[in-house]
Amino acid sequence: MTDLLISDAAALRALPRPGAGTGPRAVVMTMGALHEGHATLIREARRIAGADVQVVVTVFVNPLQFGPHEDLDRYPRTLDADLALAEEAGADAVFAPSVAEVYPGGEPEVRVTAGAMGGRLEGAHRPGHFDGVLTVVAKLLHLTAPDTALFGQKDAQQLALIRRMARDLNFPVEIVGVPTVREGDGLALSSRNRYLSAADRASALALSRALRAGLEAAPQGPEAVRRAARAVLDAAAAAEPPVVLDYLALVDPADFTEAAGDHTGEAILAVAARVGTTRLIDNMPITFG
Ligand code: PAJ
Repeated sequence: MTDLLISDAAALRALPRPGAGTGPRAVVMTMGALHEGHATLIREARRIAGADVQVVVTVFVNPLQFGPHEDLDRYPRTLDADLALAEEAGADAVFAPSVAEVYPGGEPEVRVTAGAMGGRLEGAHRPGHFDGVLTVVAKLLHLTAPDTALFGQKDAQQLALIRRMARDLNFPVEIVGVPTVREGDGLALSSRNRYLSAADRASALALSRALRAGLEAAPQGPEAVRRAARAVLDAAAAAEPPVVLDYLALVDPADFTEAAGDHTGEAILAVAARVGTTRLIDNMPITFG
């Protein structure tokens, strides 16, 4: 099991690529505490890139993307279980570097900035978050040098920003989005779900319920979608424990600005809320005729 583990950049560089040494490599980046959502990304990597692809999973809790009062210190770290899950899902290697390996110069002086899109929704509630995400994703793309990198639609704004960075900065990689994996009752899988008590978890179901209510209202247009989702969240604000809303927004997937009342084509209904001490995000793609 542990022979999958690579902890330093030199060993990663020495990892032979498939075939004659130029074969395809796909990467799935994670912060560990792996679950079925991550496993789906790993399996999808092999499916889309072909049987001969080498699948590399990265596990790195990136300090740069956590705010000063966020959960960096209590973020779950479960490397042994992660190695087992990654292997079971078909990973060929797991790159789990130390902070010193990824940030050899300490706090980076030069960073990627996420621009206007990075200041909206999640970015407005977590200042600097997306600069931290894009900086580490850029570093991990350099370190792993993949042909394909897969990211979950669960973090829709992150996915959109990574696509934008790859285009704006000419990264030679194909970015692939993978639909959100949910529990049977609708809760989107997340490493942070393990913080939820049974009562928290019951309240947290309001997020996916609100998104589904929004989706069902799509034929009546964007305003109806917002109203339907809002009604579910208003009720959940009075539940015990309450769902404390950070934002609910229906946005244009290209730049995460609010979708207009006559919006056509794809939009994203996005929600963020706190339940107990846990902050959760979820979203649903919605198409308007
Ligand atoms: P993490 O939250 O561990 O997520 C790793 C990848 O798994 C992301 O692409 C995320 O969108 C995807 N993922 C998480 N839950 C999912 C679900 N329920 N369904 C589908 N995909 C899911 O996102 C990060 O880590 C970090 O920001 C990272 C990109 C690794 C940079 O540090």
